Amino acid sequence: VLCWFYVFPVYRLPSDKEIVEEVLRQGEDWQKNQTGIDLYRKLLSECCDPKRMFAVTKENSPVGKVLWYDGEFYYSHTVNNNTLKRRGAVRCIKCAVVGNGGILRHSKCGRDIDQADFVMRCNLPPISKEYAEDVGTKTHLVTANPSIIEKRFQSLLWSRKYFVDSMKVYGSSYIYMPAFSMRPGTDPSLRAYYTLADSSSNLTMLFANPEFLRTVGKFWKSHGVHARRLSTGLFLVSLALGLCEEVTTYGFWPFSVDLDQRPVSHHYYDNILPYKWFHAMPEEFVQLWHLHKSGTLRVRVGRCA
Ligand code: CDP
Repeated sequence: VLCWFYVFPVYRLPSDKEIVEEVLRQGEDWQKNQTGIDLYRKLLSECCDPKRMFAVTKENSPVGKVLWYDGEFYYSHTVNNNTLKRRGAVRCIKCAVVGNGGILRHSKCGRDIDQADFVMRCNLPPISKEYAEDVGTKTHLVTANPSIIEKRFQSLLWSRKYFVDSMKVYGSSYIYMPAFSMRPGTDPSLRAYYTLADSSSNLTMLFANPEFLRTVGKFWKSHGVHARRLSTGLFLVSLALGLCEEVTTYGFWPFSVDLDQRPVSHHYYDNILPYKWFHAMPEEFVQLWHLHKSGTLRVRVGRCA
């Protein structure tokens, strides 16, 4: 038994208090490390090819191509003329990936976030005046889970005006939807796409390529993240590491206390907790922190100003 433990030491996730101590010990010090950045871009392009694969495009999904749902077994969608397909890819310099953690509240990080060339946000978060000082106002890509379309916009089966109006805060950004992760998510995603197209919205819909989501999931599994599904934020960080010269994350802090040991809500706008066994956000944070320490990306926790 001893040998077994010696060969496979039991991995223990640090407690919230230990994480706080570790972050405080590191302080504001951060040094960019180009070798680390290049290495991760290489690793991610080898496993997952983010530049070519992150969305369903004409190039990677021609008509007739079978897309296998990444969140289900045995179901697929065959690309037809109605499946949304885009061309091209984005290449950015400074990217900000904004998670929805309650740590952003009173952070005054809005100005920093808005200074990035490309701002990515998760799950159609509120960015109204009330939050602007902490989370900024700019968005270039925002993810939308089909479940939000179902719950917040009644699956777009009735009036669609509220949806179209609500999307205006995201300007002319991309909306990135995992339309082919779970079967029930496909129809709401297509409805969201047609609703925006019919209303001449400035937003551009992108459907996540399920193959990309699957390979990114495997990549992080091999780095010790054991979740049924990666969190939206880690998918975006992976995309950013593949596409951007410099990545800074904000709002990634899945712990119950802030750096002053005061209670912190789960989101900056509410305190609704995720399903316990679905994501492994603390494990993901450990990975992000590891990348922060190696200078590959910068994790901002706490106040910016
Ligand atoms: O859909 P999901 O539950 O993954 O995300 P969310 O609650 O809308 O938050 C967006 C992202 O921010 C998550 O996917 C996490 O990566 C990150 N997050 C975090 O790190 N700490 C929190 N307390 C909340 C969110």
